[in-house]
This record gives sequence, structure tokens and C-alpha cells, in this order.
Amino acid sequence: MVLSLRALSIGAGDEVIVPANTYIATWNAICMVGAVPVPVEPDPVTMNIDARSIAPAINAKTKAILPVHLYGLPCPMSEIMALAQQHHLYVIEDNAQSAGATIDGRKTGSWGHINATSFYPTKNLGALGDAGLITTDDAALNARVRSLRNYGSSQRYINQEIGINSRLDELQAALLRVKLRKLDLWIAERKKLAGQYMEGLKDIHAITLPVSDDHHTYHLFVIRCKERDALAAHLGAHQISTLIHYPVPPHLQEAYQFMQFRHGDFPITEEIADTCLSLPLYYGFQQVDEVVESICSFYTHTKH
Ligand SMILES: Cc1ncc(COP(=O)(O)O)c(C=O)c1O
Repeated sequence: MVLSLRALSIGAGDEVIVPANTYIATWNAICMVGAVPVPVEPDPVTMNIDARSIAPAINAKTKAILPVHLYGLPCPMSEIMALAQQHHLYVIEDNAQSAGATIDGRKTGSWGHINATSFYPTKNLGALGDAGLITTDDAALNARVRSLRNYGSSQRYINQEIGINSRLDELQAALLRVKLRKLDLWIAERKKLAGQYMEGLKDIHAITLPVSDDHHTYHLFVIRCKERDALAAHLGAHQISTLIHYPVPPHLQEAYQFMQFRHGDFPITEEIADTCLSLPLYYGFQQVDEVVESICSFYTHTKH
């Protein structure tokens, strides 16, 4: 994302619209190039940003929109692209959590002007270490980003600008090329497991389930409930691991104190942080029924 922003010449004085509820990496990339992240609240049902939440944040300093397809659910890209075009803004998709997802017949990571996908090992398409990919169909951006990731050089020992070393390791690339063939299969399996969770948990009214959407690739299966910590402890006591994505939103992190946000500035985001719980889900996971049973027993035996 840093390379994508730099390739677009986004820097000091520029504003980039970003979800308030994302992994901190999205915000960090904007700050790393000297620009300002302008957070907007997600839709409480999809947990993603959309044209309605983005539009009021656009002003004369806005240069780009950085939508995040959180948890594997694509943002409504047609409307976001239309809004961007109307205001002459760039779009950079943070495709870290939704490799292989499709919306309106097009893959995520192919909508924005330049987009970043993560192959961190736990992602739907994971490498054996850190890795990532930039996608663009713009020849000039392609050339610039290839140079920026190679110390700002497109010809050996001739440097046009100050770049970094961020080349994708060939061994990781070779592995990813083979794994890529299985991505659709793995996503189909994730959808099946998510469907099992949805069916098993549908009658527990204390739980908000992920939005039911065919486009969802379920990088994470995130439920929400007020008694999240007690439920996580109950599951933990039954050897069921859960995670929280993410317990503290970027605007309340020490790293962003300088922006002087306060508790209550982004109530939807804060509510998600306080109530979200990611249930175990991965290719080959065979214990959905046990997890559902354990959640049901929590709600049967405790008063909520
Ligand atoms: C939404 C989001 N953006 C960005 C990143 C950063 O990706 P990476 O760890 O490959 O730099 C991640 C995951 O780590 C993420 O979940």
C-alpha cells in the first residue's frame, strides 16, 4: 500500500479516506507517505465502507479512497468507483483479506487504480512467510511501482528516485502460483463452513451473524455479541480458540494519539471492536458442529 500510494504521488498535505474499522496497516501506509488518513464509519451490517459513508468526508485535500474488503466481504465497488470518478479521486483497494473474491463479476483487486493484496500466511492465499502483490492495469503506475520496489531503479545502477527493497521473493512466488490453482476450491470450502455456522447459530438472538452475502469469502467468520469476552472464555475453556479482529481500532491506538481522536468519535467501529469474535474457520476445519454446540451450551446455561 505504501508503494501504491507513492506510485500515485500521494504525500504531504493529501488526505486519504479509509475505514475507521480496519487493521492498523491500512492507516499506517497512508502515514508512511506523509498523507493523512481520514477515517469513516462502516455500515453496521456489512462492516464495510460504502459511497454513503465516504461522500461526506471528501474535500479539496482528498486524493484517494482506500476501501478495505474486511473479513473477505467485498465493498460495493461499482458505487465507490463512480463516486471517485465524480470527484477525480484515486482508489486503492486493500485486498489483504479478500484474495479471490468477486463482486459484480469482477475480482477484488481489479477495481481500483492500483491495489494491494497480502499473502501473509493466514490469508485465504498465504505464502510461507511475508509476501504481497500489487495489481494495476495502468502501464505508468506499473512501471513506477516496479521501480519503487527496487530502490527506485528501472535500469541497473541508475536510480530515478528513492525507493525501497520490496521485491516478492521468488520462492514465495513459486509456491503462491501453485497454491493459486486451489484458491477457488478453498473459498468454496470456507463458504460451506460459514453456511454451517450460519445455520447452527441462526436461532441465538444474542448473536449478530455476518451478513449473508454470496460474495463473502470468509477470510474471517466474525460474529458479534455483548457478552463476547465471557463467550470467548467459555470457548477457550473447551479448547476452542477464537480471536478478536480487532480489539482496539486505529484511532484509539497509542500510535495515533497525535491525531487526537477520542472514545466515542467512531461509535460503530468501537462497538464492533467491543463485540466482535472470530470463530475458527479454515480449509479442512471439521469441528464447526462442536463450536456451535459449545456456543449453544453457553447461552443455555448462562443468562443473556
Ligand atoms: C486489512 C489489512 N490490511 C493490510 C494488511 C497488511 O498485510 P501484510 O501483513 O501482508 O503487510 C493486513 C494483514 O496483515 C490486513 O488484514
